[in-house]
Amino acid sequence: MTRRLLAPSALALCLCVLGFAAGCDEKLSDVAGPTPGLDPTFSSIQENIFESSDSSGRAACIQCHTRQGGRNPPLGLSLDHDVAYQSLVGVPSVGKPGAVRVIPSDAENSYMVHKLEGRSDIVGQRMPRTAGPFLTEGQIRIIRRWIDQGAQNN
Ligand code: HEC
Repeated sequence: MTRRLLAPSALALCLCVLGFAAGCDEKLSDVAGPTPGLDPTFSSIQENIFESSDSSGRAACIQCHTRQGGRNPPLGLSLDHDVAYQSLVGVPSVGKPGAVRVIPSDAENSYMVHKLEGRSDIVGQRMPRTAGPFLTEGQIRIIRRWIDQGAQNN
C-alpha cells in the first residue's frame, strides 16, 4: 500500500528535479513567478532582480545598491551592471566578518542567500531592505541554482 502510493510521487519529484536542472523552460517559468524571464544565469538575475522591480511590488536592489548619481552604496556593495559580478562572487561580506557574499557551487553557505532568505544568522536586515515584499521562494531557488552551478559570469 505504502509503496504503491510512494512510487508515483517519487517519480514525479525526480522528473521535476531533472526538468529544473536541465533548464526546462516550462518548469522554470512555473518557478519564476513575478519575473517570468528569470533563469539561473548571472545576466538574467542582473536584469530581473538587481535592476528591476516586478509585479509583486518588490524593490529593485539598485534602488539602494548603486553608485549612480555619485551615491555611496551600502557596505560598498554596488549592484550596477558593470561591477555587480566582481562585487559578489568570492568577495567577503562587510557586514558579517567571515562570511562570503557568493561562494561558487555553495548556495547554502553564500551570505547573499542568507540575506535574501532572512535567516536568523544575518547581520542587519533581510534584503531588499524594505518592509517587503521579499523575493519569492521560486526566485530564490533560481538564484541558488545559478550559484550551485558554479556562479559563472554568464
Ligand atoms: C532600501 C535599500 C536597499 C535595497 C532595496 C536593498 N538593499 Fe541590500 N543593503 C541595504 C543596506 C542599508 C545594507 C546594510 C545594512 C544591512 O545589512 O541591513 C544592505 C546590505 C546588503 C548585503 C550585505 C553585504 C555585506 O557585505 O554584508 C547584501 C548581500 C545585500 N544587501 C544584497 C541586496 C540584494 C541582492 C538586494 C535586492 C534583492 C538588496 N540588497 C536590496 C539596503 C538595501
